[in-house]
Amino acid sequence: MDIEVRPLAESDLDTADLIFRDAFGTFLGTDMFGDTDLVRTRFRADHVVALGAYADGELIGSNLVTRWGSVAYFGPLSVTPRLWDRGVGARLVDATLGVFAEWGVTHQGLFTFAHSPRHHWLYQKFGFWPRFLTAIMSREVTGVPAARTAWTRLTEMPDRAAVVAACGELTGAILPGLDVRGEIDAVIDQKLGDVLLLGDDPVAPHALAVCHAGAGSEAGSGFCYVKFAAVRPGRDAGAHFSGLLDACQAYAAGTGAQHLALGVNTARHEAYRHLVASGFRTDVPGVTMHRPNVEGYDRAGVYLIDDWR
Ligand SMILES: CC(C)(COP(=O)(O)OP(=O)(O)OC[C@H]1O[C@@H](n2cnc3c(N)ncnc32)[C@H](O)[C@@H]1OP(=O)(O)O)[C@@H](O)C(=O)NCCC(=O)NCCS
Repeated sequence: MDIEVRPLAESDLDTADLIFRDAFGTFLGTDMFGDTDLVRTRFRADHVVALGAYADGELIGSNLVTRWGSVAYFGPLSVTPRLWDRGVGARLVDATLGVFAEWGVTHQGLFTFAHSPRHHWLYQKFGFWPRFLTAIMSREVTGVPAARTAWTRLTEMPDRAAVVAACGELTGAILPGLDVRGEIDAVIDQKLGDVLLLGDDPVAPHALAVCHAGAGSEAGSGFCYVKFAAVRPGRDAGAHFSGLLDACQAYAAGTGAQHLALGVNTARHEAYRHLVASGFRTDVPGVTMHRPNVEGYDRAGVYLIDDWR
């Protein structure tokens, strides 16, 4: 089979989405994605490169490669099931490493199924190694908690640039160069949800949360999904994490969501324990794989929510 990996053409987006749903549905035996949209929303975002694998001009798989400043990860990676185990996935991962190298990112990774030796094998060949579990968790939205700490929505702010810079400064204090401005822009520009800023001064927030809500976003109907959240390191980080979760719950209730979903790497022990104690239960246990095999921001004391799905 003559395979070519190149940037995914916009005209192939619908096919890429169908292959993505077919591939994951075949592997899992169930449809995990419903009316969420991961492929189109990421394709449109400036911090994402979309790769397509083509055989004789026909799209047979794709991968979405995401940059968060000095950090990058990839997924969803999918290959049409009739062509599994013929090296197409490896070709897409190989091309992804080329994108990482062009970006010059220092911390690289992915989220995958904890129980799948097949997946671990594929990624280990390229120098990604399994580390801690990442728990995809959710809890019911049961009304609006009393706000113990003030918070603001970015869509209500006149000066996005100042807030985005402040968020970059906050995340950079957790890991040098970590910057999710691409996620912030995608959520606001594509109207996928909102960004919540904790504290009295939104241009010097204690914490931020990038939230998707509803159908057509990464959340899906009835859900609010915290794609990324982080608390400024320091003595009050635990208390601010509580305040941030309250803000997420209040925002979720305002969107009409019945469930609040998020992911956390269990190496962020205090954050994980806090979520368990706050009523979150694990829906999908996955594992993150890192290249090189170092902790990055998955370490004790870091109050950060993300799952690299
Ligand atoms: C994961 C996926 C993208 C891989 O694509 P693919 O084209 O089948 O991948 P490749 O053929 O390049 O590699 C598969 C490797 O797994 C190996 N493999 C298969 N079964 C295995 C098992 N039980 N244990 C260990 N390795 C196994 C194959 O031998 C092959 O390795 P090799 O080429 O060194 O022999 C594809 O299966 C897919 O779309 N799955 C559903 C969606 C998904 O799971 N995406 C990834 C989420 S992180």
